[in-house]
Amino acid sequence: MDIDFSRILPSIPFILEGIGITVSFALVSAILGLILGTVLAIFKISKVSYLKWFADIYTSIFRGTPLILQLVLIYFAVPQLFQYDIDKFVAGVLAFGLNSGAYISEIIRAGIQAVDKGQKEAAEALAIPYQPMMKDIILPQAIKNILPALLNEFITLTKESAIVSTIGLLDIMRRAQVVGANTFRYFEPLLIAGLVYWIIVTCLTLLGGLLERRLRRSE
Ligand code: ARG
Repeated sequence: MDIDFSRILPSIPFILEGIGITVSFALVSAILGLILGTVLAIFKISKVSYLKWFADIYTSIFRGTPLILQLVLIYFAVPQLFQYDIDKFVAGVLAFGLNSGAYISEIIRAGIQAVDKGQKEAAEALAIPYQPMMKDIILPQAIKNILPALLNEFITLTKESAIVSTIGLLDIMRRAQVVGANTFRYFEPLLIAGLVYWIIVTCLTLLGGLLERRLRRSE
């Protein structure tokens, strides 16, 4: 078996520098996704039918096509139509944010609609107007469904962000491949990249467990 970490030792810092890019990429995408997802979720629970339609079709398209396709559309195809260049990070964040918005809108919508119907009925029986009912009764309960799922989405984004390596953004994944190509040794850098992703995801998962226990305590 041919494993020799000493040959790629000098390249390890290069791979580790990808952590900042991967994490900030996932974070910015998640923020964009959260903003978009919130707006779409509001559309979905609104009574205005064309807003509902729009949000549903949006979700269907972005969840129904591969993320990598959306990414290359934004990075290669649309710029071809309008003759402009787009930064890899910006294109990636756009694709991931738009994609995640579709998933997050469902998380928020489902989280709100999972709150027991009786809560809304009781509020209505007490003649509590819609806005305070949402703010003080429904949303505080919905948050318990929404927060853990949002963290899950962030974990997914972190792992899926490796797709952005295909357009050449120097994230953890891309860096491992670059080291492989330069040293003709792929196993070691990819193993290190895998380990780094695993550590990040495990930290986030632990955080999620903590969060869920905390939320349950307030029950
Ligand atoms: N691999 C999936 C795809 O290509 C990932 C979708 C992104 N998932 C998410 N929860 N944002 O469509």
